[in-house]
Amino acid sequence: MKMKKDRGPSPDILKDPAGWVDYRLPFKWLVNDHLIDYPTPKNLSYMWNFGSLAGVALLLQIVTGLFLAMHYKGDVTLAFDSIQHIMRNVQGGWLIRNMHMVGASFFFIVVYIHMFRGLYYGSYKSPREILWGLGVIILLLMMATAFMGYVLPWGQMSYWGATVITNLLSVIPLVGDDIVIWLWGGYSVGDPTLTRFYALHFVLPFVIAAVTMLHLVALHTHGSNNPKGIDLKKETDFIPFHPYYTMKDIFGLGVYLMPFLFMVFYLPDALGHPDNYIPADPLVTPAHIVPEWYFLPFYAILRAIPSKELGVLAMFASILILFILPLLDRSKVRSASYRPIYQQMFWIFAVNALVLGWCGAQPAEGIYVIIARVCTFVYFAFFLSLPLVSRIEKPRPLPKGI
Ligand code: HEM
Repeated sequence: MKMKKDRGPSPDILKDPAGWVDYRLPFKWLVNDHLIDYPTPKNLSYMWNFGSLAGVALLLQIVTGLFLAMHYKGDVTLAFDSIQHIMRNVQGGWLIRNMHMVGASFFFIVVYIHMFRGLYYGSYKSPREILWGLGVIILLLMMATAFMGYVLPWGQMSYWGATVITNLLSVIPLVGDDIVIWLWGGYSVGDPTLTRFYALHFVLPFVIAAVTMLHLVALHTHGSNNPKGIDLKKETDFIPFHPYYTMKDIFGLGVYLMPFLFMVFYLPDALGHPDNYIPADPLVTPAHIVPEWYFLPFYAILRAIPSKELGVLAMFASILILFILPLLDRSKVRSASYRPIYQQMFWIFAVNALVLGWCGAQPAEGIYVIIARVCTFVYFAFFLSLPLVSRIEKPRPLPKGI
């Protein structure tokens, strides 16, 4: 059995208060080892700013959400009006709500870039598979949170979006219909649905924060990957996180805040749907039911497949396949910069994802469905061809160091 480390006598609380606390709770060690002296590869590019930006975006959602919750009413007769009350009567309410609304979109932009960075530089490969898997869990939690948040203003899109998406679960054999009724808490989307979505929307961001902590523990176990994707061994390849990367992250935050605040002040509704300013009406179906932009590529996959069952399966598979990406890609080389075939596949995949998003916003008919089908094929072909590609590809020679 290993004995506890002998920490010697406690410092005097009056002479050394910080030492006294640290003796009992190693806060200094935590901050120093993970934020100050933490050895960081010295060649990280701006693409490595997006992790810390995602952290700030999450924090901003939690803080603004908390203030919104002080005035919002999770009741179908009051929800829509309580949002109008926040926008018109509550001091600074419009600002808090715009920040929360635009913040959700920006959070997804940041996290999608963060993921594509990981895809390009092979950050999902050994020894970071669990770090990547935790990221996919965070993405799923973010999607659930955003979906339920969009229901809360109780506008037309809230109501009909919730109806369409929850109804997808009815494809589950035998118990599907019962599950949908159980989820709604009734025979249609209604007051019990709104109340439970509010409760879950409140708590899930804290679950995301907890999983993010695990994400960081996994990250700091082996340290960051880097643009060359090679393992760094020499001490001179690293610099302490502070002050270089703290400054770089603060600079990145400043750049991020410019378009973010521009949208908050001048174009808060640009990314939303105008129909959500019409109160929910179960008797009037909107002409086109469209989810928020960040769900569009997955929505396009859902509608590309003629069978509802297979469409739902393909949509869930398109996200869950990310979990097994480290198993599919067997190449030992991480960075796409040294992988001629994978590099091209990456760019095709990225453009394909954008086209899928565009298809998701179009009506599900004619040429749009054909394009969405081709793109769905390309989406899955990217993942499923990786075992073969990683075997036949001849990587370019890797550099000896950075
Ligand atoms: C709340 C959302 C998230 C937060 C706050 C977050 C935070 C971070 C931070 C601070 C880093 C280190 C800095 C950096 O490499 O950019 C990082 C690294 C990483 N994250 Fe995330 N992350 C989030 C979501 C995700 C998602 C959705 C994925 C993928 C599915 C992911 C995959 C990774 C990977 C693979 C790394 C290691 C990158 C490398 O060292 O090259 N993260 N994350």
